[in-house]
Amino acid sequence: MRQSSLVVVANRLPLDDNAAPDGACEWRRNPGGLASALHAILAPTPATWVGWAGGVGRAPALPDVGSLRLRPVSLTEDDLRGYYEGFANSTLWPLYHDAVQQPVFQRDWWETYRTVNQRFADAAAEVAEEGAAVWVQDYHLQLVPRMLRDLRPDLLIGFFMHVPFPPPELFMQLPRRVELLRGMLGADLVGFQREQAAHNFAQLARKLLGAEATDQTVAIDGRTVRTGAFPISIDVAEMRALVTRPDVVSQAKQLRHDLGQPKRVLLSVDRLDYTKGIEHRLTAYSELLRDGYVKVRDTVMVQVAVPSRERVESYQELRDRIEGEVGRINGEYGRVGEPAIHYLNQPFGRAQLAALYQTADVMVVTPLRDGMNLVAKEFVAAREDGSGALVLSEFAGSAAELEQAFLVNPHDVDGLKETLLRAMQADRADLAARMAAMRRHLAGHDILVWARAYLSALDDTGHLATLTGVAPG
Ligand code: ADP
Ligand code: F6P
Repeated sequence: MRQSSLVVVANRLPLDDNAAPDGACEWRRNPGGLASALHAILAPTPATWVGWAGGVGRAPALPDVGSLRLRPVSLTEDDLRGYYEGFANSTLWPLYHDAVQQPVFQRDWWETYRTVNQRFADAAAEVAEEGAAVWVQDYHLQLVPRMLRDLRPDLLIGFFMHVPFPPPELFMQLPRRVELLRGMLGADLVGFQREQAAHNFAQLARKLLGAEATDQTVAIDGRTVRTGAFPISIDVAEMRALVTRPDVVSQAKQLRHDLGQPKRVLLSVDRLDYTKGIEHRLTAYSELLRDGYVKVRDTVMVQVAVPSRERVESYQELRDRIEGEVGRINGEYGRVGEPAIHYLNQPFGRAQLAALYQTADVMVVTPLRDGMNLVAKEFVAAREDGSGALVLSEFAGSAAELEQAFLVNPHDVDGLKETLLRAMQADRADLAARMAAMRRHLAGHDILVWARAYLSALDDTGHLATLTGVAPG
C-alpha cells in the first residue's frame, strides 16, 4: 500500500461521475465549490485524495492524476440512500442552511452515515504515512476526525466545514448532535468559512459537552482543539488566464451575438439547489417584466442551473417548480426567437463558464444561505476590464468580503427588484469603482492564500505549506 504525507478526505473524488477508469483519467471537475477550490492546490502536490467516485458498487481502480493519488471509497445503493441522499443531504444540508427547506429526520439514516464515515476513516488511516497530515472536508464526514484519531493518534488532523455551521437553536434539533460535535472535535484544527460559525461551534461545545470553549479554542478530553474562520476562495490566476484566451474572448462575443445583441445580459450560475434562491429571483424578474421595467428585447436573462442530487425528492420537486416557472415566464413575456429567460440545465467546461461571465452585464447571485459562493468570486475575477455589476445576497459567505457588490436580502422580493434595477442602471464610473475594489480584495485573497492560512495554522512548523507548494516563495 502506497502511503502519503498529505491525505485529503472528501465525500467526492474531484472527478465527475462519467470519468471512466480507462486509463485516460484527468482532472474533470464536478460542479460544486469543493473540487473547484481544492483543484488548484492539490493538482501539483504529492498527496492522496480519499473519496467516492460516484455510482454504486465496487469502486473502480483509478490511476494517479499527476502527482495526486486517488483512493476511491465504494458505496452501495443503501449507503447512497442513507448516507449521501439521506443524512447528509436531507438532514444536515437543509438544517445547516437555515432550514430554508424542512430537514428530514429519519432514524435509520444515522447508522448508515456512521458506517460510511468509518469506511472513509479506515481508508484514510490506510493511506496516511506515519505522522501524516489528514485534511477532512465538509458535513458529509463530521465523524471522521474522531474515528481517525482513535485509529491513528500519530496523525495531524484538520477538518474544514465548507457550508454554514448553524446557531445552537437549529443545531439543537439534531437527534445525534452530541456525536456530531464530538466527531469534529477529533481534529486538531476545525476551520469554518465565517467567524460566526466558529462562535456557534464554541457555544455548542459549552452547552452540549460542558467544554471550556472560546471562538478560537475548545478544551476537550485533555486536548485543545483550535478553531477559526478561513474564508475559501478561487484560483484567480486560472480565471485570468482563461478570460484572456482568444478563443474564450471570441466565445463571449459569439454568445452575445447569439443572445440577439441585447442592451443588457443578466446571468445566474448555480447548482440546482433550493438554497440558491432561484425561485425568488425568477419571481423578481417576472414582476419586473410584468410591470414594464424590463423589456425582453433590451434585456436577456440567462439562468444556468446544473442538475444536482437528482434522486433527492426535494431537488426533483424544485426542478419541476423552476422549469414550470421558466416556461410560464417565457410563455407570457417571450416572443418568437426571443425568450425572456435562457435556461440551461447542463454542466459547462471552465472556458465556457469564463465566456459566460464575460458576457454578463449583471451577475445575479442571490442564495438564501450559502457557505461562501465561489461563483460570485469567479465573476469578479473574470472581469479583466473592470466592468460589470454583481448583485449579491447578504446571506452568502462571500458578501462579507465583496462589500462593494449590490448587496441584497433575497427573501425581500421588492428589495431584490429594486436592487436589480439599480445594478442595471448604475453608471459606468460607479461600477468600475466597485469592481476595482472587489478585484483588489480578490487578488490578495485567492485560493493559495486560503490554503496557506489553513495549512500553516494546522502545522505551525510550515512543513505542510512547503510540501503543498503554497508557502510564500
Ligand atoms: P456550491 O459549492 O454550493 O456548488 P459554489 O458557488 O461555491 O456553490 O461553487 C460552485 C462551483 O461549481 C463553481 O466553481 C462553479 O464554477 C461551478 N459550476 C457551477 N455551475 C456549473 C456548471 N453548469 N457547469 C460546471 N461547473 C459549474
Ligand atoms: O459545498 C457543499 C457541497 O456539498 C460540496 O461538497 C460540493 O462540491 C457541492 O456542494 C456539490 O454537491 P454534491 O457533491 O452533492 O454534488
